[in-house]
This record gives sequence, C-alpha cells and structure tokens, in this order.
Amino acid sequence: MPKFTSNFVCQQCGYVSPSFLGKCPNCDSWGSLVETALGKQESRKAGSSHGKPIRLTEVAAEATRRLETGISELDRVLGGGIVPGMAVLLSGEPGIGKSTLLLQLVESLTRGTKSKDAILYVAGEESASQIKIRAERLGIMADNLLILEETDVDAVIGALGSSKPVLVIVDSIQTLMTTDLAGTAGSVGQVRECAARLIAAAKPVGLPLFMVGHVTKEGSIAGPKVLEHAVDTVLNLEGDRYGGLRLVRAVKNRFGPTDEVGVFEMGDSGLKAVVDFTGLISDLSDKNQVGSCLAVVMEGSRPIVVEIQALTTSTPLPSPRRVANGIDYSRLLMLTAVLQKRLNLPLYREDIYVNVSGGINVSEPAADLAVGLAILSSYREKPLSAKTVAIGELDLLGNVRKVNALEKRVKEARKLGLKNVLTAENLEAIANFKF
Ligand code: TYD
Ligand code: MG
Repeated sequence: MPKFTSNFVCQQCGYVSPSFLGKCPNCDSWGSLVETALGKQESRKAGSSHGKPIRLTEVAAEATRRLETGISELDRVLGGGIVPGMAVLLSGEPGIGKSTLLLQLVESLTRGTKSKDAILYVAGEESASQIKIRAERLGIMADNLLILEETDVDAVIGALGSSKPVLVIVDSIQTLMTTDLAGTAGSVGQVRECAARLIAAAKPVGLPLFMVGHVTKEGSIAGPKVLEHAVDTVLNLEGDRYGGLRLVRAVKNRFGPTDEVGVFEMGDSGLKAVVDFTGLISDLSDKNQVGSCLAVVMEGSRPIVVEIQALTTSTPLPSPRRVANGIDYSRLLMLTAVLQKRLNLPLYREDIYVNVSGGINVSEPAADLAVGLAILSSYREKPLSAKTVAIGELDLLGNVRKVNALEKRVKEARKLGLKNVLTAENLEAIANFKF
C-alpha cells in the first residue's frame, strides 16, 4: 500500500482530508482543498539516542544573548533585541511599511560595523532594482545586504547554506512556494509548508528569521493567522495608512513581553522612532476648549496621554446619532445612559460624536471618566476649569472607579505638567463634578 506523503487542507476553514474532495464537508466551499505535505512520521523506539534531554542549568547562556537592533522602538517590542534562531512574523496591511521597517533594520544592524556578515533579503514581492530605489531613498548603502530574487523556498534554503547570512528576511512569505505541493503561492498549504521549512532550516543554526505576512482588510485566511503558532514572535504593524503614525505591537513573544508597543512616524526618509508621542497627538497647551478632556491610556507598559473630544448637537429626530471614533460604540451608549440617568440630562435629544486624537484606539474603561466629562462639557457649553486629565472607570451608578496602573498614569500626567488630575480619589461620582 502506498504511503501517504500529503493530505488535503481546506483553504477556507482548515479542514483536513486524506483524499481530494471537490467540496469541503465542513464549510461547504467548492474547490478549496489543497494538497499539503506531511512531515516524516518515523516511529522511534523508547531509549533510542535521539532527543536527549539536557538539564536547564547546563543550557549554554549564549543561547539567550540578544542582538540589539539599534532601533529603540523595535528593541522594545522584541524584548531587548533579536535572539539567535528567533522566527519573527511581521504582519500588516499592504503598504503600511513592513518592507521599509525591515530595510531600516538592515541599515541599523550594519551601520558602523566593519564586519562582512551578510544579511539575506529574499525578495518575492519586489525586484532587486525596486529595492535598490527604496534603499537609496532611505539612504541605505549596506554593502553586506544580499538580495535574492527567488520564490522557490527550497532554493532559498539552498542559498542560506551558500551565503551563510547572520539574518534572513523573507518579504513576503505569501510569495514563496514549494513544487512539492500542487497549491499556488499564498495558499494555506504553501504558506504553512514554506514557513515550516524555513524555520526548520534556520532555527538549528541559530539564524534569526524575519518573515513578512500580509493581512488584508477582509482578513484573508492564508495570511499570518496560519503561522502564528509556528513562529516565536508575531509583530503587527498597524496605523492609519494615510496618517503618519505607525504602531508595532507584539501580539505574541516567546522572548519578551507581549502588548508592548513601538511607535514610529512615517516620513520622507522612512520610519522614525517617536519619543514624544503625546506631543504628537494631543494638544497640551493651556487653553481649555469646550468638549475636550485628556485621558491616560496604557499602550503596553507605557502610559500615553490622549485627548478625547466630544460634540453634542440637538436633533429633532426620535433616535439621535451616536458616533464613536476610537472608543467602543457600545461603551459610548452605556456612558451616555449613565450621564442621562445620574445627571438628569436630556441626552435623548442630542446627537453625540466622540473622537480620540491621533487615530488611537482606546479600549480601556480607564478613559470612561474623560469621555463622560468631554460629553458633559460639550453639552453644557463650558470648558473644563483647567486643563484636566481624567482617569477612571464609570460604573452604571455613576461612581468613579479605580483603574489598573493608576500611579503610572498619574505620574505621566504630572510629568507633562498637567496639574489637574481627576481620579476616584478626588472625584467619587461624576454627579459631584463641578465646572
Ligand atoms: P512599504 O514598506 O512598501 O509597505 P509594505 O511592505 O507593508 O507593503 O511601504 C510603502 C509605503 O510607505 C508607501 O505608501 C510609501 C511610504 N513610504 C514613505 O512614506 N516614506 C518612505 O521613506 C518610504 C520608503 C515609504
Ligand atoms: Mg512590502
């Protein structure tokens, strides 16, 4: 009986079948099953010499030495730098700046060093001359950068052996394929298999591997999601493509903290690390405007002061509009209900718009109080008495609650010279607030 060397995986839902089927029995999509290579499944007897465990205390310390990238914001999300043999997936929408960030990584790693250690850039998306144009634009003249225009993963692995790089960048994993499988480049089977082969080749020799993975707005299945379990670190590059801010977020990290965020600004000469994030997105000047209140949100371990703006306008319509930009819509409905009930405000006659500065998404309840005060200020047509930072969660009774990392948030506000800080300690309920 022939041995199976592959099985068939549905590209839509991941269903696995040992034989080809025209229609997936799980999600009912047609023609979606694609052949996928099976790993070797040799059975070994217990007691064979393979897979010998070693004591934790005997693990060489070198294995965890980190290579600093020199880009402070990237080091922060990686947890201090690149670990040997680390497999990183850099995901993001097309055009957000993934290739730019990786080219800048090359520049930063090679700047000022005399070493001739090669960095291999596998270009599946762009031609070498396109990369050259971008590199010139970014002022990158790295002599050690080798470009490989190749889409066959087995040829790439061959090139790893011959060029002996210290870092490999694959841009992007969706353009690679192996001829062992029938599926086209970018299909679930190909993406999974190519990544697995690259990781298997790079990890044992301690070679760090950066792979670019595209996500589309529709959240294509063959995107980075199918790889998250296979890599050590998943970095998401996000931000508004038309605005300048870019956030690099570690959503998974075996070698460092997750939820850490690196902040960049896209400019004419590529991505620049942003140090004064708050100054970029919030107006901290002394003038108080109607409908504005500051909040402090945590991005990873870093507190960031954001400005919350609200606008209320009276409407004759029976169901008024509620628009939430940067905060959760149902949270806005809840806060409006709390204000209406606890402060006896006829907000059912008002359209309410809320916006967070800088395109930041605030999912924390810690911004509740600031949202509430911004709405209140707009409704009463009165600015808050001084530049105010409000940190607190509002419960259904209108009470202000303590939030996590309160001290850090208050400290950040004070550091920026903001004296009027409202928290659960000095404002017990929103009904007690006086303008
Ligand atoms: P890119 O790195 O090609 O995105 P990705 O690899 O994620 O698809 O980034 C492309 C965008 O970045 C493009 O719209 C142009 C812009 N850009 C700048 O604004 N400044 C620069 O210096 C560079 C190189 C690109
Ligand atoms: Mg690109």
